Amino acid sequence: MGNSVNNSSKEKVLVTSALPYANGRIHLGHLSGAYLPADIYVRYKRLKGDDIIYICGSDEHGVPITITADNEKVSPKVIIDRYHELNKLAFEKFGMSFDIYSRTSLPLHHDTAQEFFKSYFDQGLLIEKKSFQFYDEKVKMFLPDRYVEGTCPRCGYEEARSDECEKCGSLYEPSELKKPKSKISGETPVLKETSHWYFPLGKYQERLEKYINEMSEKYGWKDNVLQYCRGWFKEGLKDRAYTRDLDWGVKVPLDGADGKVLYVWFEAVLGYISATKELSEKRNDPDLWKKYWQDANTKYVAFIGKDNIVFHTIIFPAMLMAWNDVNSEKYILPQNVPANEFLNFEGKKFSKSRGWGVDVLEFLELFSADPLRYTLAANLPENKDTDFYWKEFQSRNNGDLADILGNFINRTFTFVNKHFDGKVPPLGQLDKIDQGMIELVRDYPKKVGDLIERYKIKDAVFEMMNLARAANKYFNDSEPWVNVKKNKEKCATTLNICLNCIYTLAELFEPVIPFSSAKIFKMLNAENGGWISSGNFVLNEGHVLGTTEILFQKIEDKLIEEQTSKLGKIEGEEKPEDEEITIEEFKKVKLKVAVIKNAEKVKKSEKLLKLQIDLGNEERQLVAGVAKSYEPEQLIGKKVLVVVNLKPAKLFGLESQGMILAVDTTEEGKVKIIEIDQSINPGTLAK
Ligand code: MF3
Ligand code: ZN
Repeated sequence: MGNSVNNSSKEKVLVTSALPYANGRIHLGHLSGAYLPADIYVRYKRLKGDDIIYICGSDEHGVPITITADNEKVSPKVIIDRYHELNKLAFEKFGMSFDIYSRTSLPLHHDTAQEFFKSYFDQGLLIEKKSFQFYDEKVKMFLPDRYVEGTCPRCGYEEARSDECEKCGSLYEPSELKKPKSKISGETPVLKETSHWYFPLGKYQERLEKYINEMSEKYGWKDNVLQYCRGWFKEGLKDRAYTRDLDWGVKVPLDGADGKVLYVWFEAVLGYISATKELSEKRNDPDLWKKYWQDANTKYVAFIGKDNIVFHTIIFPAMLMAWNDVNSEKYILPQNVPANEFLNFEGKKFSKSRGWGVDVLEFLELFSADPLRYTLAANLPENKDTDFYWKEFQSRNNGDLADILGNFINRTFTFVNKHFDGKVPPLGQLDKIDQGMIELVRDYPKKVGDLIERYKIKDAVFEMMNLARAANKYFNDSEPWVNVKKNKEKCATTLNICLNCIYTLAELFEPVIPFSSAKIFKMLNAENGGWISSGNFVLNEGHVLGTTEILFQKIEDKLIEEQTSKLGKIEGEEKPEDEEITIEEFKKVKLKVAVIKNAEKVKKSEKLLKLQIDLGNEERQLVAGVAKSYEPEQLIGKKVLVVVNLKPAKLFGLESQGMILAVDTTEEGKVKIIEIDQSINPGTLAK
């Protein structure tokens, strides 16, 4: 049988995944966004024999890292070392196949980032601007925008940002902000003059638009990415500050620029280049990085999550253009930026502080990597946000992996071991069903491969499992357990085809479930021959198989229930019971006085009452767990405190638009509602 996939010329490919901040543990959402899809793509390209390198590492600068360090009273170095190691380990256990996992704190990276800055400075590109910025004298630092809050000079909104009000939408000078407050120390910051270098992004707008139009036309960029870019162009690209007043980061390589570092995004993206340089050193091939970054034949694909789009489609390309304008060694630009949307967790955003979601290391303590990889891959947020559900994880594992893929492999091996002495039986006369199956085995690698080439990873994974589905059907329809007595030659043919199909499945699935794929090859006592041999029948009559193993363990309900019951509960050393919150966090909770106008029982519920409350200028319906503590009529007329900005929830089919504050009593299941003095008007804000 001939090769099923066109042996077209090899591609040279450079793949990067966004460099995660070394400021926390990566969770499943990160994996789905920028890592797993890239790893699947890379593994597939490697199998195909393309010349590919895959680059990643930790992003180790930026303000949040310094804040974490301050909170823990350690140096930023302690923080980045901790999370660099933890995340590196998490990626390893998850089976990420980076060629290098570097870090931006390396001198090699600092040199690289400074070299770019100098090139821009020397060509007179950067614009120096003086401005007044808030300075926190207590912690001795200039405050980035999002760390200052105050009262809007236009509408009086009390949580306005330093230069913009979310409520009325006005923009103003920081000096106009009333009652400014540092979010770091809580003190009133002062305005202090400072000067910064700006990168004139607008200068590149026309070329960027042309670049993006060309690339997207030629290589089919994703819609979400294009829309996003067009939005930016429509607004018009503006100068962007390239430097910051901060200690932690890549120093600005100019005399008299003490206390200034490069803005983290302007150097983090260059981390891809410096990481590749580190790889060159490691491989003792000093020019390796240039062979990828500075060769027009390289196809560069940057995998990211949607919050990173502008940095990879606009800022990074503009930086490379600006470099290329004056240097003889020219960099390539991304050919595609297949950004994903977000993965949520059981219907909500991941949140460490709320105990919502699982981080990767935690997960892999409990379950193995492949079922997780498969579940995430089958549900990638390629076009819209998706959710991880524990229940779905269980059914993907038990249903797809164990009952479909695992079962097919298991029944084939069991049968061959029992009736054919653990050797590949001969392929005899083919009937229509056999031919149909052989065709599928021959066609699937191309089908799956084409989808992966177009970054439709989720669809590709669906197709992989479809081949396993078809294989089970083939096994059933061919009835080898009948033929083993009636027509042994026919039975042999069936099993030969099944074994060769398993070989192809092992190869097709390698990018998604690499650990299991390796096991299958061991069971087949065969080497993974690369994508090109998929669809070929490489296992010949008489080939001796290896020992059979169980590939996928079923996951019991109990394990899943344990996990779901932990959701939203906070535990562990990093989440103390009385976790401190800032006054700003507390202020997010809007508490108002309300009067209860009506109360009635909720059908079929022992605990709930349906309440009608009046907030002065609006009425709302609440569903409260107070039925064991009060008769409905006892509540009417009471003045109570209500959380008014709580996300509405449905209980017993009824919408609850807020929550009444109550305290536990010594009696099990009973609460006492906090009552407010009758002299206070409904709608009054509590603080
Ligand atoms: N650290 C950033 C994040 O986690 C991503 C940086 S990507 C890079 O969102 F290109 F800047 F490296
Ligand atoms: Zn305002």
